[in-house]
Amino acid sequence: MKKIATLTGGGDCPGLNAAIRAVTRKALLEGYEVLGFRNGWAGVLKRDYFPLTRERVSGILHLGGTILGTSRTNPTDDQLDTLVEHIQSMELAALIAIGGDDTLSVASRLHKRGVPVIGIPKTIDNDIDGTDQTFGFDTAINIAAEAIDRLHSTAESHSRVLVVELMGRQAGWIALEAGMAGGADLVLLPEFPMSLAEICKIIKRRQASGKNFSIVAVAEGFKLEGTEVTSSKELDAFGHVRLGGIGEVLCREIEKITGIESRAVVLGHIQRGGTPSAYDRVLGTRYGVKAVELAMKGEFGKMVALRGPDVIGITIDSVIVEVTDKKTGKPKLRVRNRCVPKELYDVAKVFFG
Ligand code: F6P
Repeated sequence: MKKIATLTGGGDCPGLNAAIRAVTRKALLEGYEVLGFRNGWAGVLKRDYFPLTRERVSGILHLGGTILGTSRTNPTDDQLDTLVEHIQSMELAALIAIGGDDTLSVASRLHKRGVPVIGIPKTIDNDIDGTDQTFGFDTAINIAAEAIDRLHSTAESHSRVLVVELMGRQAGWIALEAGMAGGADLVLLPEFPMSLAEICKIIKRRQASGKNFSIVAVAEGFKLEGTEVTSSKELDAFGHVRLGGIGEVLCREIEKITGIESRAVVLGHIQRGGTPSAYDRVLGTRYGVKAVELAMKGEFGKMVALRGPDVIGITIDSVIVEVTDKKTGKPKLRVRNRCVPKELYDVAKVFFG
């Protein structure tokens, strides 16, 4: 029997189980045997997999996380040879890799070595180029918008500035859309620098207009006066620092300059946890079914993508760029970031202050 395998890599996000279920159900329907690797590329390296049957994927549609487990394993060139060997020895008709930019860049490297791979983009950050949206994002902005809603009453009661730190490394989609939906009074994104003086001016202007509180939504990747705030300088396997702490730093500075009592709130992994929204379940499902269709047509080296109302296949290489690996200093491939466009930020700016 022909075999299709799947895996989930990188940070988890709501909707992964919907995609796993969809890959499994569609592939079973088309007569494939379906296998799931545990913990991303680590599972392929260790030949650690299990059958995905109809029973195994039953009752997981509404669950957050991933039943396959995940990891940020980044295979070295030697390990890539091992991956190819393992995949070939299993005689897989296709490997469907569900992940963000890191996982998809490994998929692209594998495809160049002849592996029949298809990618499915996921991340709460919504920062993958080539697709209008990744699943996980809708759930994350709903959680973040609800948090901003809740912060209003306590900010107003205490006449405080509340700075909410949200995920988003190079692209501030979560802070932008949760900020817009929750009515934040200032939204700070990695894409659009703003000086501390300007930030404080907006807060003071709001106070002068009679509002006794302000809510600031800031993406973790926002650079205050050009400086990125990290919770650990140590680089992960893909050469990324651990971001975190901008909310607290900003809050201290705002309080010092404006004299308004301020507090920071970090939503952190709450944005990634729990039940996926209906939208993310549907998008994950559409992506999973389309990935199997691409595999059946032999359209390897592609990833599924949302374009307007349609889910299509695009070559992974069309969104791959070469960058310098911060860890090794050598060139490496990664997926281009999809950043917030200025026109959209300009809409959010109408409501600043
Ligand atoms: O999945 C992307 C992301 O949510 C980023 O926004 C964040 O910086 C990162 O993951 C944190 O991941 P972890 O703490 O799991 O390493």
